[in-house]
Amino acid sequence: MADLRRHLIIGTGAIAGAHASAVAAFPGRSTLEFAVDLDADRARDFAGRHGIAAWGTDLAAALDGPDGPPDVAHICTPPGSHVPLAIQCLEAGTAVLLEKPPALSLAEVDRLLAVSDATGTPVSVVFQHRFGAGAHRVRRLLGSEAPEGLGRALVATCETLWFRPDAYFEVPWRGKWEVEGGGPTMGHGIHQFDLLLSLLGSWDEVTALAGHLARPTATEDVSMAVVRFADGAMASVVNSLLSPRETSLIRLDTERATVEVEHLYGYTDEHWRITAAPGQDAVADAWRADVDETARTAPETVASGHTAQLSAILDALDAGEVPPVSLRDARETLELVAAIYASAFTGGVVRRGEIGPGHPFYERMEGTGAPWRTTVAAATRVGGAA
Ligand SMILES: NC(=O)c1ccc[n+]([C@@H]2O[C@H](COP(=O)([O-])OP(=O)(O)OC[C@H]3O[C@@H](n4cnc5c(N)ncnc54)[C@H](O)[C@@H]3O)[C@@H](O)[C@H]2O)c1
Repeated sequence: MADLRRHLIIGTGAIAGAHASAVAAFPGRSTLEFAVDLDADRARDFAGRHGIAAWGTDLAAALDGPDGPPDVAHICTPPGSHVPLAIQCLEAGTAVLLEKPPALSLAEVDRLLAVSDATGTPVSVVFQHRFGAGAHRVRRLLGSEAPEGLGRALVATCETLWFRPDAYFEVPWRGKWEVEGGGPTMGHGIHQFDLLLSLLGSWDEVTALAGHLARPTATEDVSMAVVRFADGAMASVVNSLLSPRETSLIRLDTERATVEVEHLYGYTDEHWRITAAPGQDAVADAWRADVDETARTAPETVASGHTAQLSAILDALDAGEVPPVSLRDARETLELVAAIYASAFTGGVVRRGEIGPGHPFYERMEGTGAPWRTTVAAATRVGGAA
């Protein structure tokens, strides 16, 4: 019989509702006991909307209640506060589910990993697109040489083409290196290329460009990267906030088929498509049979999202395993973010493992500094001349 886990939400803004709905989806396994926000009105309104008995502005009080510390703290605050809040929870003995991006830098991730290891209390990171049935199916079939397998992945494209108007950046923590840690690479496209990494495995090297073209931010508003994976597969990764027809797309060309998912903020099996290579119909037939079987036997597993990830986390906690996505796995995604910035700002190829203590992009995602001032000044001169 599964244990009943007591949950706490820290930060009751936009994304907190998805966490509250996820907890509510597992009655008997999960209960939301406390909501904390620096803004008392927000915490009270949120608690009222979600039927949470206790709310407040003091995290220490929430961690020190009469029934002992909660089992799981969901950290839904702006990125700059993630690591200090997570450390406070770990030291109280509460496991952490941390919204993306987990930290502002690799150095911060390593500090948090050290506390997690020392306290023996796990941190998992919200990367909810790893958890729909389509992603599980691709992971199962990739690399398989059986007739219904996809074979080896060769070529991939990964595009996060989103649109955020100037007004989006009026929220004080957005578009600033010191609070958000980056632009669409760190905050938006990270969902898509985290899914890509979970499908293709470890990345090996990256070459990238980043631009500051149109939005009132200190960070990039677009980046483009070319990534080579450890097994040789190659991917292009585009992260944009400037794209009026919005889409989130991953396309994999494998030895046996092209597999694509195109959605915006979450997918079901309807968003996936498979096209078999000539003579490889078995793989497409097997894919479609699995889609039908999933719809019949486990429809609740089809959609990606916070509920799907929380389901996997509760299963892992019950089994005494590290809940997914572990902070160590998330670190590999954050290392790709740091490498994209390092390549874009300094030129050249960046290899996995290169950015460690002492490297300028280890402590800060903007590392040696974004080159926008030069770019903007040059653009102004060209405009003035015309
Ligand atoms: N997984 C996803 O799909 C997804 C989607 C949107 C946002 N996010 C992430 O969720 C996080 C929050 O984003 P949001 O859009 O909900 O932000 P938001 O600004 O809407 O809400 C943040 C809330 O945190 C509170 N807060 C700030 N600092 C705090 C602190 N130290 N202690 C307690 N409360 C504090 C604020 O008062 C505010 O109510 C960010 O890391 C963001 O990247 C994830």
